[in-house]
Amino acid sequence: MQDEHQVSMLTEEEARAELARLAEILHQANIAYHGEDDPQITDAEYDRLKLRNAEIEAQFIHLKRGDSPSDVVGSAPSERFAKVTHAQRMMSLTNAFQAAEIADFDLRIRKYLGLGANAPLRYTAEPKIDGLSLSLRYEDGRLIQAATRGDGSVGENVTANARMMQDIPQVLKDAPALLEVRGEVYMTHTDFASLNARQAQAGARSFANPRNAAAGSLRQLDAQITRARPLKFFAYAWGELSEPLADTQSGALARLEALGFSTNPLTVLCDSPDDMMARYEQIEQQRAGLGYDIDGVVYKVDDLELQRRLGYRSTTPRWAIAHKFPAELAWTRLEAIEINVGRTGALSPVARLTPVTVGGVVVSNATLHNEDYIAGRDGDGSPIRGGKDIRVGDWVQVYRAGDVIPKIADLDLGKRPSGTVPFAFPQICPECGSDAIREDGDAVRRCSGGLICPAQAVEKLKHFVSRGAFDIEGLGAKQLEMFHADDQLPIHTPADIFTLEARDRQNMTKLANRDGWGEVSARNLFAAIDQRRTVPLARLIFALGIRHVGEVAARDLARHYGSWHALAEAVDAAAPAAECHLQADAAEAEERRLAAEEGRRARIKPVRDAVWLNMDAAAHAAWSDLIAIDGIGATVAVSLVTSFQQETERASIDRLVAELTIEDTALPDAPDSPVAGKTVVFTGTLSKMTRAEAKARAEALGAKVSGSVSAKTDILIAGPGAGSKATKAADLGVETMDEDAWLALIGGA
Ligand code: IVH
Repeated sequence: MQDEHQVSMLTEEEARAELARLAEILHQANIAYHGEDDPQITDAEYDRLKLRNAEIEAQFIHLKRGDSPSDVVGSAPSERFAKVTHAQRMMSLTNAFQAAEIADFDLRIRKYLGLGANAPLRYTAEPKIDGLSLSLRYEDGRLIQAATRGDGSVGENVTANARMMQDIPQVLKDAPALLEVRGEVYMTHTDFASLNARQAQAGARSFANPRNAAAGSLRQLDAQITRARPLKFFAYAWGELSEPLADTQSGALARLEALGFSTNPLTVLCDSPDDMMARYEQIEQQRAGLGYDIDGVVYKVDDLELQRRLGYRSTTPRWAIAHKFPAELAWTRLEAIEINVGRTGALSPVARLTPVTVGGVVVSNATLHNEDYIAGRDGDGSPIRGGKDIRVGDWVQVYRAGDVIPKIADLDLGKRPSGTVPFAFPQICPECGSDAIREDGDAVRRCSGGLICPAQAVEKLKHFVSRGAFDIEGLGAKQLEMFHADDQLPIHTPADIFTLEARDRQNMTKLANRDGWGEVSARNLFAAIDQRRTVPLARLIFALGIRHVGEVAARDLARHYGSWHALAEAVDAAAPAAECHLQADAAEAEERRLAAEEGRRARIKPVRDAVWLNMDAAAHAAWSDLIAIDGIGATVAVSLVTSFQQETERASIDRLVAELTIEDTALPDAPDSPVAGKTVVFTGTLSKMTRAEAKARAEALGAKVSGSVSAKTDILIAGPGAGSKATKAADLGVETMDEDAWLALIGGA
């Protein structure tokens, strides 16, 4: 971008030139956005340019152009997809592909609810519509907000666009005072074909498939364009409600239908996994003739009270599953195998393919997973694809399953060109030349260069600024690559981001005077960085990009330790024990090998215990505390400790922390629950719920469920048959109650 001067200081000639430039940029941005659902500039940048355009027009009224961007778009900049925080998270679904997984799903639910194999249990079977989900909020029967799913917690405000859709009632009669209806926006095959024909006529890019077309049409800046694009909507779920819609999923669908929503007519009730499979096959048969895309069948427990008891895992309900149709396949040529180096140093092989259409999408890359996969072996060394290795030049079968990266299903040896050789997987990192090491039991070969490897450093930085992490506006992959390679104002580690402005001040050549930058964009970047100087603990932990520490683990760690100081201290204290844990693993493996050789049973416990014998008690305690956190196993713990112990990495973390204000995580996390932060133990027989359910509910309310009574126990819930735990609790003076008292305390039947 060129330099931008204060509007009041522009000459008329400069103003005219800049209005022309802005008209062109915004016009291009609109085309990219409208035609391709593929914006080329960020929303913030778009808004900023529009604002600047309006400011210049206000100052030079007579210079306003006939094609002024101010007139092109109906909505005000701030309405350009303002963010909406969903009152209740929009969940996704666990996928299944095999009949056995459906039987498992039914078994799991029965087990969780404590239902026998023959107890009646009904499910709805609904087609899984291949579109994009939308949440519609009605207050007193009026549509007041429509929001896309976004990341599940925060979506985009597309209210103006939803008002243009015929399938979406604006006003409801006899609806609950508060009602959030959720469902899928989709486009029919016929409408998709005519839209693409119109796009082609207008010289605009065509859409790859109806789902992209639906997404592109709903996410329109100009709601009039949405109006011109025939979008449809099926309701299948709900969010916040002032009163229940019905007692069952099927009843709720009927109620939504009565309120004026379209619900899918192929929905039926099933009484068993066999019924579900039969319905799946029927729907699959009808799939091609439906006139819209579906990609599977969703089964949901029909009884809403059971749904409530089953509840949710972090992002998916326990009471539903998506049974996907098999992926679509296509044959093409493998042109090359390239190696990408990721954030954790993993060398990931990628197949470059002659582009081919798979299920309506052009595919030119596919993952090859790891070196064993290419060689035709799985992790245990047993053959996959009948042991056929993958070579450059091979004729390969590609498939896509859902949204995932394309994969290679098979290859045709009959079409293998002569003279091909097995792929030699690199033993050194193609990016930095460090040794690429494959550890025992790991399928992946990793670059050992750590932060000296530019690929790892850049990928780590990209992760650092990504959405769930620091999410710095205006600092994306492209900018980071630029700064990483920059001699004058380099960003090599996260801390460098926060010293960027100070360093720029000292430089002769300012960022603002560089190609592609201006006063405003530089100032905006510094401001965006500054805004993120205060960070919640969980985000910081996630942002560090430590292997195995994803968003969920980061949250669990933050909740457990509460502050950076407590976390760092605990991880440091646990370091010797982590080492011990690895030695114990090695000793166990050795013992297993010996035992197999000598034809005797392996003695695991004594062998492991021997390693721990001289372990310092404080380290042992810190380690036990760390791995006792729900969701944090030894693998995560070892990875965490290793990064904190690794010198360069630790220095980088410490430098970063010095730049930040870290917000502590409240302990406990659910302050309005009477049991938040309490440690509870269940013992004896429970009659109203299974152990798994009791544990999940207690944890959802912020309690910590432990298996044994100690001085740290706050409440013992003792059912009939409680034994030594009840005695111990009495000895320790731990509060003890029965199941009913517990349910009364947590306020649930
Ligand atoms: S229920 C709490 N039902 O599939 C459960 N989802 O892969 C919420 N989808 O995000 C989802 N048809 O966009 C449900 N009949 C159906 C569906 C359906 C399509 C989509 C939805 C969801 C995605 C999960």
